[in-house]
Amino acid sequence: MSKTALVTGPTAGIGHCFAEQLAARGYDLVLVARDEERLEKTAAALRADHGVEVEVLPADLTDRESLARVEARLLDSSRPIDLLVNNAGFGLKGRFLDNSADAETAMLEVLVVAVMRLTHAALRTMTERGEGGVINVSSVAAFLPRGTYSAAKAWVNSFSEWAANEYRPRGVRIMALCPGFTKTEFHERMDVSRGSAPGFMWLEAERLVSDALSDFDKGKVVSVPSPQYKAIATASRLVPNSLLQRFQSVGRK
Ligand SMILES: NC(=O)c1ccc[n+]([C@@H]2O[C@H](COP(=O)([O-])OP(=O)(O)OC[C@H]3O[C@@H](n4cnc5c(N)ncnc54)[C@H](OP(=O)(O)O)[C@@H]3O)[C@@H](O)[C@H]2O)c1
Repeated sequence: MSKTALVTGPTAGIGHCFAEQLAARGYDLVLVARDEERLEKTAAALRADHGVEVEVLPADLTDRESLARVEARLLDSSRPIDLLVNNAGFGLKGRFLDNSADAETAMLEVLVVAVMRLTHAALRTMTERGEGGVINVSSVAAFLPRGTYSAAKAWVNSFSEWAANEYRPRGVRIMALCPGFTKTEFHERMDVSRGSAPGFMWLEAERLVSDALSDFDKGKVVSVPSPQYKAIATASRLVPNSLLQRFQSVGRK
């Protein structure tokens, strides 16, 4: 029987590559994002290119009622989800005090609350079946002091590492994926140009996702694709925070 993956944020960037590469591996898909028209177009292309079944589930993950519909889909044991990819996310244009507290809360709802609630729902059915997987898209920012976005991604890493250990004996594999700067719509949506970080630091989303899936196949708990970001992740453990703070503006306006 074919397996099913639920991917949040599959209409652009990293999530789109996950949807493509999982469909190429024969996964049926459930796609979750806000823009319904774009979801339908993405689903039609995936069906045509890979011959897999694709369901669309329009939802704004900042909204608890929409989120509850996605949780209900994950809890439906008659149509089990084998792999959950918590990918949807965004950064805020301004610095902390330039943003409203509501905008900061909306970011936390997507980067933290949705990841927690969807993983909670997925684990209910996956542990019952004794199999399943969760990939939480975090960031290299999790290792660096770069404001509330970093703090949220540090939560994703901590949560994923703990949950991987806790639920491995019950058949569920969990991995945090920590991309560095990746060519997607993420920075455009923040009005940040690619010139704000040196060229060698920009990753291609296709390669990032194929490396991530290969790390997941190997059972890695934290995946940091590409040598330059592996070096940054290692250095962040050795360099004092006061020094790391000096680099916090790279890749920002
Ligand atoms: N690109 C990078 O440099 C980079 C680096 C490290 C980590 N990341 C992380 O990678 C993940 C994917 O980012 P990306 O770069 O691929 O971004 P992207 O190209 O901007 O794509 C974001 C996706 O998430 C969906 N989305 C955004 N807000 C949503 C909401 N409130 N509810 C439901 N879906 C929502 C978008 O669709 P709709 O707009 O239709 O909802 C879209 O499908 C994020 O978690 C991000 O933090 C990115």
